[in-house]
Amino acid sequence: MALERTLSIIKPDAVAKNLVGAIYTRFESAGLRIVAAKMMHLSKEQAEGFYAEHKERPFFGALVEFMTSGPIVVQVLEGEDAVLKNREIMGATNPAEALAGTLRADYAETIDENAVHGSDAVESAAREIAYFFSDEEICPRTR
Ligand code: TYD
Ligand code: MG
Repeated sequence: MALERTLSIIKPDAVAKNLVGAIYTRFESAGLRIVAAKMMHLSKEQAEGFYAEHKERPFFGALVEFMTSGPIVVQVLEGEDAVLKNREIMGATNPAEALAGTLRADYAETIDENAVHGSDAVESAAREIAYFFSDEEICPRTR
């Protein structure tokens, strides 16, 4: 087990459905600590930069359009095996394939609007956290 941080996003569909609190409860109930958080409405440039690894994929344009369609909530989650734990809480990319009880099974209908983002590895988590948060905006627990 390793103490890790991961970057999580509550996407525009889930914010629009008033699911922020319900999703935070899933993270906290699983023992993940929210150590940074902000609401944002991404520009096209911000969304393109965040998802640059997918820029040659056929869904890239629609993904950027979706991610800029409304406000999002971005957070850093910290805990034991936080990267994998968050991916387990989220469920598979395609909600139709997501295990029962996962966020995407419960709160998303389609692969293109799938409620949440989570970093897929410790290395991508470091890059994604730095994309949205300065060191000063991350607040580890003191009690
Ligand atoms: P990906 O990184 O593969 O999935 P995940 O979010 O589980 O890490 O893809 C990023 C996002 O791109 C995904 O959450 C939704 C969108 N996407 C599609 O719209 N269609 C697709 O076929 C894929 C693979 C992803
Ligand atoms: Mg991914």
